Amino acid sequence: MSVLVTGGLGYIGSHTCVELMNAGIDVVVADNLYNCKKSSYDRIKALVGRDFKFYECDIRDAEGLSGIFENESIESVIHFAGLKAVGESVEKPLEYFDNNVTGTLILLDVMRKYGCKKIVFSSSATVYGMNNVSPLVESMEVGGVTNPYGRTKFMIECILKDLYTSDNEWSICLLRYFNPIGAHKSGTMGEDPNGIPNNLMPYITQVAIGKRDHLTVYGDDYDTHDGTGVRDYIHVVDLALGHVKAVNKVAGESGLFIYNLGTGIGYSVLDVVKAFEKASGKKIPYEIGPRRSGDIATCYSDASKALNELGWRAERGLDEMCEDSWRWQSQNPNGYPD
Ligand code: NAD
Ligand code: UFG
Repeated sequence: MSVLVTGGLGYIGSHTCVELMNAGIDVVVADNLYNCKKSSYDRIKALVGRDFKFYECDIRDAEGLSGIFENESIESVIHFAGLKAVGESVEKPLEYFDNNVTGTLILLDVMRKYGCKKIVFSSSATVYGMNNVSPLVESMEVGGVTNPYGRTKFMIECILKDLYTSDNEWSICLLRYFNPIGAHKSGTMGEDPNGIPNNLMPYITQVAIGKRDHLTVYGDDYDTHDGTGVRDYIHVVDLALGHVKAVNKVAGESGLFIYNLGTGIGYSVLDVVKAFEKASGKKIPYEIGPRRSGDIATCYSDASKALNELGWRAERGLDEMCEDSWRWQSQNPNGYPD
């Protein structure tokens, strides 16, 4: 039996495939290669030392997905595939709703057709919206999201909850990620954004290798310890290991489960800059700019539910996240090869 990993060649998916296979779980990947390179498949294989099946398939292609379920023995699905850039989603809402929401509906329909009712979904801390106060707890009301990307995550959570209400045989795990950064220790896998990075860590690493001349810090007048935005950065390998726990959870029992995957600790933008400078020995020049629209001052998790129910906790600290991000970027200045 295998786990079907949609979006499994992307940043979080690739690290998760490695940890699943390291845990002895067979994986089958479906990815349309929209936001990744095929060479990430080779890197995963090299790290785990064995082959696994990859299908170049769009999750909106019901026939293609059905073919995977026909050929493979799929026990459960980890669903990463989706578009994730907040700013782009404001420009292209229809593309985001189509890819993320329609794609998920098609995936769920095919799963149901093949009697596969176990899914782990990549949700986001963004579903807590603008008004909940950190530390964010799973029982808080979600919604109030301010951009189309976030709304796709909120809508998919609603769809999955309704699905479980309609049929209690499903086993559904919603994982709300905080801010994944870092890379595999080997330096062979990491985050490889297209164009100008939207997120803090890839921007910093590109300044460090000289691709960008400075970082713009989006606001220093927030109500935080140094005025810059505070987030809960989590090492991508810890996040990947959270998926191993979650997939075992859905394999073992039916239900609807919701977990934050974060460290429970908030760091400011300037804390991250300092930690990165220490880890890399590189100076990161920065300028203070205006606030970025839609940003909140502070966002960090209460991570105790995942510890209590899954036995999972993030083990890797900010220094290690920075060291590993830097190793990946410095060894692969242009990301994955074409
Ligand atoms: P990513 O872009 O690196 O990976 C997503 C993968 O899905 C890519 O390989 C892409 O080619 C593939 N994909 C996209 N649309 C597809 C489709 N229609 N059919 C098949 N494959 C498709 O992103 P990531 O950072 O690894 O994020 C994975 C998931 O986690 C996403 O759903 C994202 O929204 C969610 N998430 C990410 C973050 C973050 O900060 N990285 C935070 C919270 C949630
Ligand atoms: N920041 C800068 N300069 C930059 C980039 C970011 O100062 O060039 C700041 C932001 O203002 C924020 C912090 O760095 O205070 C983190 O920003 P990111 O863009 O890295 O991350 P966000 O918290 O804004 O959003 C991320 C994902 C979203 C997801 C959210 C919660 O991009 O998809 O985490 O999971 F919804």
